[in-house]
Amino acid sequence: MQKDGQESHRVAVSGDVEVSAYLEIAKGGTKAEPRAKPEEKGGTEREAVVIVDFGSQYSWLIARRVRECRVYCEVMSYDAPWDKVAPLRPKGFILSGGPSSVYEPDAPQAPAYVYESRLPVLGICYGMQLLSHQLGGKVAPGTRREYGLAVLHQNSVSTPLFDGLPPEMPVWMSHGDRIEEMPPGFTVIAYTENSPIAAMGNEHGLIGLQFHPEVVHTPQGKTILQNFLYKVCGCSGNWTPGSFAAEAIQRVKEQVGKGRVICALSGGVDSSVVATLIHRAIGDQLTCIFVNTGLLRREEVERTLNTFQKNLKVNLVYVDASKRFLSRLKGVIDPEEKRHIIGEEFVKIFEEEAAKIGKVDFLAQGTLYPDVIESASSGNKAVATIKTHHNVGGLPSRMKLALVEPLRYLFKDEVREVGLALGLAEEMVYRQPFPGPGLAIRIIGEVTKERLEILRAADWIVMNEIKKAKLYRQLWQSFAVLTPVRSVGVMGDARTYGYMVALRAVTSEDAMTADWARLPYDVLARISNRIVNEVPEVNRVVYDISSKPPSTIEWE
Ligand code: XMP
Repeated sequence: MQKDGQESHRVAVSGDVEVSAYLEIAKGGTKAEPRAKPEEKGGTEREAVVIVDFGSQYSWLIARRVRECRVYCEVMSYDAPWDKVAPLRPKGFILSGGPSSVYEPDAPQAPAYVYESRLPVLGICYGMQLLSHQLGGKVAPGTRREYGLAVLHQNSVSTPLFDGLPPEMPVWMSHGDRIEEMPPGFTVIAYTENSPIAAMGNEHGLIGLQFHPEVVHTPQGKTILQNFLYKVCGCSGNWTPGSFAAEAIQRVKEQVGKGRVICALSGGVDSSVVATLIHRAIGDQLTCIFVNTGLLRREEVERTLNTFQKNLKVNLVYVDASKRFLSRLKGVIDPEEKRHIIGEEFVKIFEEEAAKIGKVDFLAQGTLYPDVIESASSGNKAVATIKTHHNVGGLPSRMKLALVEPLRYLFKDEVREVGLALGLAEEMVYRQPFPGPGLAIRIIGEVTKERLEILRAADWIVMNEIKKAKLYRQLWQSFAVLTPVRSVGVMGDARTYGYMVALRAVTSEDAMTADWARLPYDVLARISNRIVNEVPEVNRVVYDISSKPPSTIEWE
């Protein structure tokens, strides 16, 4: 464990370079040669920063915020080799927070290239403590953990980081350790009541923040990050997901060469954008397989065929497997069993069809950035299985095909922008998520042909009315659920004994949590009236007012 500043100077930081060399760098000296200056590699290519991840739950959020500032970024593990980072030609680094303490023996360190590059560095929380520790300052356990809101006071030091911001602002703190002594050449640029060094920096663009600018509880956090990106790193904020499309097309061309690619098309946003992008890159070398499970919504099959076969002229294999799915689902009422059966059957059909195509080299998948970050992070993976997700984008690894994943660096809303840039219709690009197992998990109890028709009719009305009320895009999802409950009603003078339909409409950022949408009463009334009037088998409509957690979005 580090005892004093002197001893820390002798600690090898990351392989080949000692802290004393970094000390020179911190002072603006010239001991270590910068390994890469972005402009040396030429061109006016996109600007990027690299987020070095130390296992923080907020790393993806930092990435989100940076992208919102129109600067491309990627999250890299702290042990990523320079060869992986170099192609991005970063203009700066952000060191994330993390659960460790810098003075612990095996605590992760910032890699040598971060300092050797001479690029600006923003250390956040653990990242700031690393800056301190690795550059010759002193970090120690705080007398008490600081968690929650604090008031940040700017010092009278001029720094571009706080340009345009008030002298005092609320910030979100979450740390145990604190900086006792800054590295040579650093000054305090802001403090809070409990953290005399809440922000520090030196004249070479090395900056540390004890608080988290990426969370919403730091309202001015985005401006702080933007100032770092624009005013310290010199980025101009010219990246757009649309500009990503051209690059991604080029990359697919390079990866695939003359190979053949297959892609499972579901009609959803991700697979539609993947298929369009790959088709743009390699044309007929791509074959899409579209399986009609019989569990899709009204007009979904026609719409998907229209877009991809008629308009985009994509090589498309269409398989109507509705009978197969229905017969396998006969008598099944357990939600997990339904999910397993559907997943299994889907894979079987996909493999059968792929075999008919002949030699295939690549499988296209709509993997998105949150999946990548989640699986790469060292965080807790022991999450209980709440639902076995069947995603038509995720296909069998036993097929042993190389993957083409052109969206693996994008967030969901960025995928939508790429879709628009590729010329896909807004209606397709802004579709609400729809689960892989489709309507089967919105029919509580056995899935039958009759029940599917009832749900399709009710669902159509919900979608129609939500769109008419201009609420469709504000809602994460809005749909109908067919319950097995039947109740007595009266229509005209006659007694009815019909099904109960539940309405589900939620708002959400990412589906991890969700709240029931406060739909206007008149919209609810219209939906309810139309369903009971137009769907003869239904005589009662209820509204689901549960949030997630403790409920989930889908009922099964
Ligand atoms: P829950 O019901 O777990 O759903 O709150 C969260 C989000 O995931 C969608 N969902 C699925 N998506 N395959 C998918 O591709 C599935 O098996 C699946 N199950 C749920 C759901 O619609 C919501 O957006």
